[in-house]
Amino acid sequence: MLILAIESSCDETAAAVLRMSDTERTVLSNTVYTQISTHALYGGVVPEIASREHIEKISAVVDAAVKKANVELSCIDAVAVTYAPGLIGSLLVGVNFAKSLAFSLNVPLIPVNHIKGHVAAAYLESPTLEAPFSALVVSGGHTSIYNVKEPCDFEEIGSTRDDAAGEAFDKVGRIMGLPYPGGAAMDTLAAEGFKKREGKKCPYKFPSPAIADDTLDFSFSGLKTFALNTIHTERQKLSLSENDELPYDFRCEVASGFTEAVVFGICKKLEIAIERYKTEKLVLAGGVAANSHLRKGVGEVCKKHGVSLYVPSISLCGDNGAMIGAQGYFEYLSDVRADTSLNAYASDEAALHAMRNNSDGISRKSKIQ
Ligand code: KG4
Ligand code: ZN
Repeated sequence: MLILAIESSCDETAAAVLRMSDTERTVLSNTVYTQISTHALYGGVVPEIASREHIEKISAVVDAAVKKANVELSCIDAVAVTYAPGLIGSLLVGVNFAKSLAFSLNVPLIPVNHIKGHVAAAYLESPTLEAPFSALVVSGGHTSIYNVKEPCDFEEIGSTRDDAAGEAFDKVGRIMGLPYPGGAAMDTLAAEGFKKREGKKCPYKFPSPAIADDTLDFSFSGLKTFALNTIHTERQKLSLSENDELPYDFRCEVASGFTEAVVFGICKKLEIAIERYKTEKLVLAGGVAANSHLRKGVGEVCKKHGVSLYVPSISLCGDNGAMIGAQGYFEYLSDVRADTSLNAYASDEAALHAMRNNSDGISRKSKIQ
């Protein structure tokens, strides 16, 4: 079947066309328009501006995806769309566009959870990957571990209690004056830092984001604050203002020390999860799954425990339409359908609440969310 998928939960307007069946998982097109240059002016995503830019771009992005796929709109069998979680105004643009499109084409409308979409990106490059497996999702808004029992049945077994890893990367990058969003720049600087350090310990003792208890939960706020204090102290020591550039060596040191703490902390809880749940297959997903140090660390943990690791290519880690189409296919197979009363939800909790009240415009075979 041909699925047209739309994603607009944050600052990427994205659409994709996929051909999916029992034996095929093909991405025919995957068009992403990123608003990064707009939000870079403000050092972070401005929700109101994001919504407006989605409105301006969505028609052209969907059009481009359909053209690139070389298919007729009339051949589309279903429209999948991200409906939660994310920025509410941004989500609503995609949801309303998808509703109109599905209605006019007279095809099913499939609501997709953004986080499940991130995980589903892994199916696209691994034709044999099948649930059950565990998933580690590390993004701008999430740092969670799941047991994926079936493609649409996720059990969260650990998560962050405050900031997400991506948020922390971006904040530290911003305070060090790196280009927005800071994650990718931190990755490169950290690599330099590790090289310069030549195996020696980081002089700054970054706290671990792995909460010291029996849970599989994280906390990134202490680590983030430690990094920010370290940077402010250095500025004071060198009499630098907020706008003065910090010495390159110092930036490399902070990026590598911070990254090391993130990777060690995540890997620590991941190892416990693998042992506790006897994980055999793991999917690493989300924007921060693009981080080379995290990919390496998680790869080593999986190797040590004999776990098969599935990590999407970098282009499928960040927000995109193909991942929504992939999850949309499985939701379609599970008889999940939305009608024109479909709403958008900023959080998983809000979506769950609406589901329990039967007020989300979604019909399901089972109450599994
Ligand atoms: O999944 P995503 O595209 O959006 C959300 O759903 O949140 O993730 C975006 C996050 C941003 O915080 C960005 O800085 C981070 O992913 N990111 C990275 C890297 N590439 C993107 N963080 C660390 N290292 C990277 N290479
Ligand atoms: Zn995302």
